[in-house]
Amino acid sequence: MPNAFISGTGFYVPPRRVTNEDLRTEFGIDTNHDWILQRTGIEERRFADDGVGPADLAVFASEAAIKSAGIDKNDIDMIVFATLSPEHCFPGSGVYLQQKLGFCDGPNAKFVPALDVRNQCSGFLYALATASSMVKSGALKNVLVVGSEVHSHALDLTTRGRGVASLFGDGAGAVIVSATDEDRGVRNWKLGADGRFADVLAQKVWDTRKRPFIPQNAEGVGQVSPEDMWARMEGKLVFKNAVERMMTVMMEACIANGITGQDIDMFFFHQANLRINQFIQQSLGIPDEKIVHNIQRYGNTTAATIPILLAEAVESGKLKRGMKIALCGFGSGFTWGAAIIDW
Ligand code: ACO
Repeated sequence: MPNAFISGTGFYVPPRRVTNEDLRTEFGIDTNHDWILQRTGIEERRFADDGVGPADLAVFASEAAIKSAGIDKNDIDMIVFATLSPEHCFPGSGVYLQQKLGFCDGPNAKFVPALDVRNQCSGFLYALATASSMVKSGALKNVLVVGSEVHSHALDLTTRGRGVASLFGDGAGAVIVSATDEDRGVRNWKLGADGRFADVLAQKVWDTRKRPFIPQNAEGVGQVSPEDMWARMEGKLVFKNAVERMMTVMMEACIANGITGQDIDMFFFHQANLRINQFIQQSLGIPDEKIVHNIQRYGNTTAATIPILLAEAVESGKLKRGMKIALCGFGSGFTWGAAIIDW
């Protein structure tokens, strides 16, 4: 059976920069740069223009990943799209990306399968586990795995929503998971979930347990309460669980691989909050040169944080072939995961 390795990486963030100060001056939010920076490490984030969705951002990231893998679009056998901000209730974003990449055009149209993964901040790790398992089974040769989010259109950008709105940004990251006979690639992964915390970090815009699934007024016009319209989060509970679960799942992945944290050359953590990652870094004694962050520049881009980190590290030359790396994330659900890769 083949191994599955990451043959290419790419990312894209929209050009519009929104600083912490912009949240105050442009959006009128009662906040300030120091509050956000001190608690989260975020200095600015990117916001997509009106009319731009996650599949649009994913097109640029995917094209960059395909190019960096040195393959052609026609070599892709499947698309796995991780997002918590799909364009619509259904269908998923994967088919929009397939269409926008031109898979369905012309006489050589290739109707590859497209799968959406809805696992929020752990979405990329769930998608990578799925794709690498399919490649290792011998069923597929090249899988495009994307994490892409447009959060800004679904944030309560008022003082009422400042606790959540100041954390998130838009962006996309992509990797190509390819088959290889060489002794390298995705060694193992560990995933987990704890549904007892399902409501702790959630956005409940619609509720299909009820009819109509979006409340309506007498005129039949949809009226969602602010509580249901926007994401809600118990921040301190998320923080505590993120630290505990990320440390545990990373150690479990190392143990299952017969290695310790010392054997890892670089760590790529989900970018929810710089303080979460610094706490884990200090607790595990990870030296600064083994870890990269980009939350300062992009905020939390959810399913996109890890593939963006990977693509940037490849681009800057920090991540080199032959390195052993660990990926780790935690998010809504709660869900979490880690993967060990011989790059
Ligand atoms: N600017 C100014 N004041 C703010 C802001 C803001 N952006 N946001 C909240 N506040 C205010 C609150 O209104 C509150 O005011 P009050 O005391 O008058 O009521 C005060 O600051 C404290 O609010 P808390 O929510 O208790 O602040 P806390 O110290 O918990 O910090 C934070 C909030 C940074 C979100 C923290 O809980 C945290 O980091 N949690 C981890 C969650 C996380 O990172 N989630 C990201 C998404 S999930 C994921 O990806 C894993």
